[in-house]
Amino acid sequence: MNDSFFIEQLKILNFKNYPELSIDFNANFICFVGENGVGKTNLLDAIYYLCTSKSYFNATEQYNFREGSEKISLITNIRKNESKYHIEINVEKRKRKEITINRVKEDSQIQYVGKFPVLMLAPDDNQIILGSSDKRRKMIDNILCQADIAYLENLVEYNKVLSNRNALLKQIFESGRRQDDLLDTIDTMLSALGTEIYRARQTFIDNFSIEFDKIYNHICDEKEKMSVVYTSHLQDDDVKRLLLQNREKDILLQRTTKGIHLDDLEFLLNDFPLKKIGSQGQQKTYIVSIKLALFSILTQYKKILPILLLDDIFDKFDGQRILRLFDILNQDFCGQVFISDTHRERVEDIMTKSVEKFEIFTVKNNGVQK
Ligand SMILES: Nc1ncnc2c1ncn2[C@@H]1O[C@H](COP(=O)(O)OP(=O)(O)OP(=O)(O)O)[C@@H](O)[C@H]1O
Ligand SMILES: [Mg+2]
Repeated sequence: MNDSFFIEQLKILNFKNYPELSIDFNANFICFVGENGVGKTNLLDAIYYLCTSKSYFNATEQYNFREGSEKISLITNIRKNESKYHIEINVEKRKRKEITINRVKEDSQIQYVGKFPVLMLAPDDNQIILGSSDKRRKMIDNILCQADIAYLENLVEYNKVLSNRNALLKQIFESGRRQDDLLDTIDTMLSALGTEIYRARQTFIDNFSIEFDKIYNHICDEKEKMSVVYTSHLQDDDVKRLLLQNREKDILLQRTTKGIHLDDLEFLLNDFPLKKIGSQGQQKTYIVSIKLALFSILTQYKKILPILLLDDIFDKFDGQRILRLFDILNQDFCGQVFISDTHRERVEDIMTKSVEKFEIFTVKNNGVQK
């Protein structure tokens, strides 16, 4: 049995649509219900933000500030066994973000990531199947960064070196002046970092495929043949040699055309690309299975059950699949789970059938009611 976190309280000031809000939680399954646009997803995002110091949805911080406000405060009390954590994140415009745990300031955002593992499942996640390859890399990185700080550091460094290389390629192209020695040095750094990242991703995908297969077949109870294939330039060749081989092309294009920044995943259903042949329900089952497999892997890495955030989970799911999903959630994922939905009766019905203890909050007028 794994340890788990339990969020006891959430306080929000000026985050997205919320001027001020405070909620206490007393169950493992917490549901937020309400009409479209009332702020259910924003509540899940506030929890995600507290766990990772970033919004799941907005890469641009300014959109997280409530319109017209200058300072966001997010506060939570989290319990893990006998330990209690009081976390505060303060974000002020034009200032450094401040994170404190039990009133002690965290030195860096990088060090904070992974302390309170979390996983979000949102409607937009179908982009993992339908969208461009960066969505799939982001999905892998999201887990590995929480799992392993060395991975996160390597990734940050890789992106820095990559952007230096691209700037140099541009300079060489524009000036016509070769700088092969400098490129050699950059290539050495890039290939060392790239190889580390590649190895971590490869191990991750191997574990992930096994979990994914188990979960998918449990939810849909059909023996569809599923597979996830990892593709990387590094599979065929040594990355340093590849960079050298493609140097002239890279100078002409002014960007680096080989490396782990172009890795991808292929999702197959009975050997066909899922994005071409999967129905919406099948795609949703696929996405939910992917996410639960990620949850499993993150649990293995962290030795603790992450907080699970399920945004609009019931949409496009038939009743059978929902019940089997909760079967799995109850068995293997019994940490704290936050769920949002538009239909109170539907949620009440599913919860009563599936879980022992739950709380439902109605979200309305920038506030919540039990
Ligand atoms: N920075 C912001 N300042 C003020 N309001 C914001 C900000 N960002 C988002 N909102 C508001 O938050 C609301 C959307 O909230 P959210 O996406 O959480 O809704 P929801 O309840 O999940 O809806 P749905 O059921 O459609 O998914 C919108 O009304 C939007 O205008
Ligand atoms: Mg929503």
